[in-house]
Amino acid sequence: MEQKKQKQKLKRKRRNKISHNTAYKTKLYLTKATILKTPAVKILKENRLGINLAGLKLPNPTMLASGILGYTKETFKNIADGGAGAIVTKSVGLKPRSGYANPTVTQTSCGLINAMGLPNPGIEEFAKEISEAKRVLNVPLIVSVYGFAAEEYATVAKKAVTAGADAVELNVSCPHVKETGSEIGQKPEILKEVVKNVKSIVQKPVFVKLSPNVTSIAETAETAVNAGADAITAINTVKAMAIDTETAKPILSNKMGGLSGPAIKPIALRCVYEIYEKVKVPIIGCGGITNWRDAAEFLLAGASAVQIGTAIATKGPNIFRAITRGIDAYLKRKGFRSVNEIVGLSHKS
Ligand code: DHB
Repeated sequence: MEQKKQKQKLKRKRRNKISHNTAYKTKLYLTKATILKTPAVKILKENRLGINLAGLKLPNPTMLASGILGYTKETFKNIADGGAGAIVTKSVGLKPRSGYANPTVTQTSCGLINAMGLPNPGIEEFAKEISEAKRVLNVPLIVSVYGFAAEEYATVAKKAVTAGADAVELNVSCPHVKETGSEIGQKPEILKEVVKNVKSIVQKPVFVKLSPNVTSIAETAETAVNAGADAITAINTVKAMAIDTETAKPILSNKMGGLSGPAIKPIALRCVYEIYEKVKVPIIGCGGITNWRDAAEFLLAGASAVQIGTAIATKGPNIFRAITRGIDAYLKRKGFRSVNEIVGLSHKS
C-alpha cells in the first residue's frame, strides 16, 4: 500500500515537471472539462510565457530574426526545437537573386557587418519550402518579403501566404540594396503604398520591419500603422562599414553593410521605447539580444516579443530556451503571472 502511494506521488511529481511549452500545447488541445480535472491545471495557470501576437499564438515571446539562417525546413525545425516561439525566414523576392560577391560578412569588436545582397531562390521556388516547413513546425512561420515596387511586395506576400505562411514581415529596411529595403522605408509615401498594397491582398497579419536609419522611427512606425500594419518589428541592421588597413580598401565587396549584434542593442531599445509611445500595435524588439536580461529590457521598453539573430552564431539554437527560461524565472521572482504584464512597464515609472 505504502509502495503504491510512493509510486503515485512520483508519477504526480513527474507530471508536474511538464515543460511550459508542453503545458501551452496541452492547453490548446484539452477540452475545458479536462483542463479543470487534470493535475496539469496547476501548470497551465502558471504558463506565464504564451502570447497572442497580432492574432498569432506563440508558446513564448522569442522568435528567430530574419536573415540569419537559410531557407530550409530543417534549419527552421532546428531553431523551433531550440525553443523559439516563432520563425521568421530570410527575405524572399519575386525573382531568384544570387547576391553580392564575397566577402559578405565581417566581424567587428561588438557585432557583425553583413552585406549579402538579399540572395534568395525567388518566391516560386521558396513556396515549396514554406509548405513543407509548415508540416514539420509547431510554431508560427513568418515569411520576410522584399520587392522593388509596392505591387511586387504584394505579389510575393500573397504567394507566401498561399503557400502556408502564418504572417509576412515586410523588409523595408535592408540598409544597402538599391531601390528596396530602407530606400522604401525611408520614404513615407512609398512605405504607405507598400503596406496598403500588401494589406489589400493578404488575409494574414502583416508585420513591418523598420530601419533605425531615419530621423524619427516613431513617425515611420505611425505611417506604417496608419497604412494597416498589424505589428512593427524594430530594428533592422544599422548601415555600417569596415576598412582593411593593410589593403586600404573596404572589407565588404559591397563596401557598406548592416551592423547587428550587441553594438546596436541600446539603439534598438531606444527605438522600441519611442515607438511604444506613438503606436498601439504590438512591437517586436530586435537588435543585439544575447541573454534573458536583454530580452526583458525590450519587453519593459514596450516590445511584446523579441527576435534573436546574431547571438545564434555564438550560442547556438538553444539560446531560445535559455532566454525563455530566464524570462520565466524573472517573472516568477517578481510576482508576475504573465509576460504581458511587463510589456511597456518602464513607461509607467
Ligand atoms: C541584408 C539584408 C538585410 O535586411 C540586412 O539587414 C542586412 C543584410 C542582405 O541580404 O544583404
